Amino acid sequence: MKPVNSFMEIEPGRCYERPCAIVRTSDGREYAIPVFDHLHADPQFGFPHKHYHIDGRFYMEPRMGHEYRLHAGHTSAVIRPGNETPKFLRIETRILPCVQTQTGLTFPETPTKSQSDNLERYEQWYASYIGKSCAGKRCPHFGTEMLDKDGRLVCPMHELTADPDTMRVVARYSK
Ligand code: FES
Repeated sequence: MKPVNSFMEIEPGRCYERPCAIVRTSDGREYAIPVFDHLHADPQFGFPHKHYHIDGRFYMEPRMGHEYRLHAGHTSAVIRPGNETPKFLRIETRILPCVQTQTGLTFPETPTKSQSDNLERYEQWYASYIGKSCAGKRCPHFGTEMLDKDGRLVCPMHELTADPDTMRVVARYSK
């Protein structure tokens, strides 16, 4: 078992100390959901509720994978301490196996009107970061470690994407 330190390569099949949101379902069971331990809100793109992002690189019970719509390590769901079901209890370190090296947000393929509005706000917010430095592989938003993905550096929280040669944020779909 290893702690996850900055810039350490994680390997599927090995176990690591990870921050987890401990949640309780309506039938009284408790589950550990691996998260990025940074409680925040995103009012700039229409999400004013404090939340944690799920770190889908690490194992969670299949019931919770279903609950949080996890697919290939990615999800649009977050952990909101204000939610009643599952109810957030606390953050706790647990030892979990790595199941894959990628995680991040999913965006709706057929967004509703309000999702479209929020996506538009998101794109504007994103554009305000283009050109910003990601020195040390740190995201210029909250300093999260960015992950290597398809020849880019991608932040697992809100998907700011950088060119690893210039270490600066680029447009999301640029090549
Ligand atoms: S922490 Fe928000 S994009 Fe990196």
